[in-house]
Amino acid sequence: MQGYIDIRRIEKPLRFENLIVEIGFGSGDYLVKIASENKDRVFFGVEKSWISINKLYKKIIQNKLNNIFFCRADAYWVFYLLFKDQSIEKIIINYPDPWFKKSHIERRVTKRENLYIYARKLVPFGEIKVRTDDYQLLEFTVKEALALRCFSINTTKLEIVEPETKYEKKWLSIGKTIYDLVLIKQKEPESIDIKEIREVERLFPIKVPTKDLNINKLIYKEFKIREGLYLKIFSFWEKGSDYALETLVSENGFLQTFLTILKRKNDYYIVDVSPFSEILKTEGIQEVLKFIGSSLTEII
Ligand SMILES: C[S@@+](CC[C@H](N)C(=O)[O-])C[C@H]1O[C@@H](n2cnc3c(N)ncnc32)[C@H](O)[C@@H]1O
Repeated sequence: MQGYIDIRRIEKPLRFENLIVEIGFGSGDYLVKIASENKDRVFFGVEKSWISINKLYKKIIQNKLNNIFFCRADAYWVFYLLFKDQSIEKIIINYPDPWFKKSHIERRVTKRENLYIYARKLVPFGEIKVRTDDYQLLEFTVKEALALRCFSINTTKLEIVEPETKYEKKWLSIGKTIYDLVLIKQKEPESIDIKEIREVERLFPIKVPTKDLNINKLIYKEFKIREGLYLKIFSFWEKGSDYALETLVSENGFLQTFLTILKRKNDYYIVDVSPFSEILKTEGIQEVLKFIGSSLTEII
């Protein structure tokens, strides 16, 4: 897919400078419009939905654009992993999901931790522009931005004649008030605790000194390996004496699914990530392989 960046494979950080990034581009109309109008600039779209990624890709091809790159992952991790500090000029967030429920506030793309990581990646006086119909989200974002003490903050009520995004059309058609919030980076943000993951160059397979495995102790079960590192095994496949386990790992909230292979070699087993699974190689995944290996020896 031309322009598509696979967060698991690409060399990091990306070398781009002065990028314009849209978070949650949805149908991609706005990103395609600004990229078509500014062919000398490089744009980057971030989305967590595959449906949106496919819609954008079709529009990039239709419009013959070669100045849009895009990636499917949670915005926090895209900024954390992919972008150099001070490499982004503008971040656009149109109609972010408001996540009304208290228990879902953690999912807002304008929460403090996200604004902190966005701020680090912005050039001096770079800006974040949030457009929303949701006054609570606006207030929340202003509060989170103030806590970082690095932005000037400006809010305006908008009079929009021509809607530019799908959600803009929807909210205008039912007469909602629309707000723009502009955060301009005045200095580096004060440091706060953030979620982190560490990539490793390679993962080492784990040798398990047993001929017989009782994988029932692992399958359909969830494990807390340590604070922030969780493992869930769903179904499994068996071929001769080898197994493949459908594995989900949450490492400080970064989710990865892959197949774990248990391969019989003479009088021992090897635990490894399947060569058919693309993953981001991290310290957490290595810990998971060790955990699976040690669980298998414990149960002989
Ligand atoms: C309400 S829609 C708005 C779409 C578009 N900007 C518009 O105005 O029509 C919010 C979009 O943000 C995306 N999104 C939500 N949380 C995200 C996250 N953490 N990282 C990346 N994209 C996210 C959703 O998949 C969805 O497409």
